[in-house]
Amino acid sequence: MTYTEIKGTGSYTPSKVLTNEDLTKIVETSDEWITSRTGIKRRHIATDEYTIDLAEQAAIKAIQNAGIDKVDIDLVVVATVTPDHYFPGVSQLLQARLGLGKIMAFDINAACSGFLYALEIVDKMIKSGAYKTALIVGAETLTRLTDWSDRNTCVLFGDAAGAMIIGTSETDKIKDIIIGSDGDVNSYLICDNVELKNPYENDKSTQDHIHMNGREVFKFATRIMPQTVRDLLERNHLVLDDLDSIVAHQANERIIDKAARDLNYPLEKCFLNIHEYGNTSAASVPLAIDEAIRSGKLKRGDTFITVAFGGGFTWGGALIKY
Ligand code: UT7
Repeated sequence: MTYTEIKGTGSYTPSKVLTNEDLTKIVETSDEWITSRTGIKRRHIATDEYTIDLAEQAAIKAIQNAGIDKVDIDLVVVATVTPDHYFPGVSQLLQARLGLGKIMAFDINAACSGFLYALEIVDKMIKSGAYKTALIVGAETLTRLTDWSDRNTCVLFGDAAGAMIIGTSETDKIKDIIIGSDGDVNSYLICDNVELKNPYENDKSTQDHIHMNGREVFKFATRIMPQTVRDLLERNHLVLDDLDSIVAHQANERIIDKAARDLNYPLEKCFLNIHEYGNTSAASVPLAIDEAIRSGKLKRGDTFITVAFGGGFTWGGALIKY
């Protein structure tokens, strides 16, 4: 039996910061409204960097922290909804920038759950015996999909990247992963692709932006996150007390607070960094895990659950011994 583990993590955020106060000059909002409804105070935004640039910086740190030789990496998966091109993928450009040789590299899109999807894919690929060491990255420049005149959404998002090296282990560390999706036929959370074009009507396609029914997304999130945590615990014969921490997708502090209350799990044991970055979609989970490790809140030997939800609708959770 091949087991897997987190070998190392890294993250990167652009240096330009957009505060709630800055946003009051762009849309009709207030620091009080944003803070009380979401917990967000600031978000980092990319002004002269692209998704590939954020991904590269996070990946370099993850490789350093894992203490591996980059020639050992035989698989790259990047989760993103904001690739710089339809093709080549961020993953393939990253492979070239890092000089990783002619290995398998591909992008996936599962919105904010993308990193959990990537983890599930590489975990099973390594456990199959076909691959040994994977680089997975969640990287986003969501600001390019943001409608800066829509106060319902523009206050929520930021740009970031988080990366992880996943490799083989002698003991069972990435213990279990749950993944799901349920087609969002009501378009509660959607960003359209560019319009169809054809040679008979040669007008230019235009890029859409994020549309969201916040209340419906809130309801979905606060139902699916506690459910996923309960399912992971139950099928592994564990109880909440066995967890040192929960690291949830940072979409809204109120969502995490409500999920924690429903579970009867102390909010103090849930890692939070949403105040600094806002919702960074697929980058949110690896950024939070990396910061939890760097700040000493997650230590080697700790058992934690990471859980996410997102557009699609998609969701995922993983039970991990770090
Ligand atoms: O990764 C997944 C991404 N999405 C999410 O996770 C979002 C989930 N949903 C949420 O987090 C919350 O629904 C929001 C934070 C988006 C909104 O909070 P809410 O408590 O559900 O507010 P609401 O949508 O019910 O709006 C309440 C009021 C409305 O005014 P009226 O109609 O009551 O007069 C909004 O127009 O707040 C208004 N409002 C704002 N006011 C000031 C909405 N956005 C803003 C704003 N500043 N930025």
